[in-house]
Amino acid sequence: MHKPLAGQIALVTGASSGIGEGVAHALADAGAHVAINYHAHAEPAEKLAAAINGKGGEAFAVGADVADETQVDAMFDAVVRRWGTLDIVIANSGLQQDAKFTELTLADWRKVIDTNLTGQFLTAQRAVREFERRGMRDVSKALGKVICMSSVHEVIPWAGHVNYAASKGGIQMMMKSLAQEVAPQRIRVNGIAPGAIRTPINRDAWDRPDQLDKLLTLIPYGRIGEVEDIGRAAVWLASDDSDYVVGTTLFVDGGMTLYPGFADNG
Ligand code: BGC
Repeated sequence: MHKPLAGQIALVTGASSGIGEGVAHALADAGAHVAINYHAHAEPAEKLAAAINGKGGEAFAVGADVADETQVDAMFDAVVRRWGTLDIVIANSGLQQDAKFTELTLADWRKVIDTNLTGQFLTAQRAVREFERRGMRDVSKALGKVICMSSVHEVIPWAGHVNYAASKGGIQMMMKSLAQEVAPQRIRVNGIAPGAIRTPINRDAWDRPDQLDKLLTLIPYGRIGEVEDIGRAAVWLASDDSDYVVGTTLFVDGGMTLYPGFADNG
């Protein structure tokens, strides 16, 4: 099997479930060593690490709240202590705290912005510092790669989810501005914007047939996404196959951003 990430070291934040878990598997299958970050629950992350190690990969679980600078530092230190450095960082941790706008509490606004946006800022900052500290390695044409997990909601407004959409819109411009800043050092920063992917975060949208039918009206390609769809995109964006891709958001959404409501003449 072709291993486009052989010899490279990756960190995936928020990797104990959902898209992060799928990305961790995909990176490991592509030959990368994978550090699996979790926040609250160690057990699923440790199970995932064991599963990767069991299939001949290299993985370990590392706890940290990505919104806490000291914990992010400690997480990067743990990876560098273990494997010497990092080549690929997937800033993936994210959550939703949905509410009607007039009922959205400041605490829930902050929680979502802190994890989704500030968490990616801290993660990307430590990644860039580590790439610069260590200098070029012969495992990739780039000095390092950062992938920011965004959402179709970096462009699609989302009533009842104002905090979440604001965080993803913020990720888009953070990613692009950072990409512009560090491209001269040969650091590639890109984003992935998943559409509706079958994970626990959106279970309400797919676990009953009537809900799934309603969801599918928003997806021209006619199926819900799976974490493997995002995993394959992450492997490509992390590999030298995408070496000239810099500061781009890759939409992996079955066409959700194609305004399907206009398919029948508006
Ligand atoms: C959200 C999901 C939602 C999807 C499409 C994602 O970013 O986390 O809950 O199903 O966007 O709307």
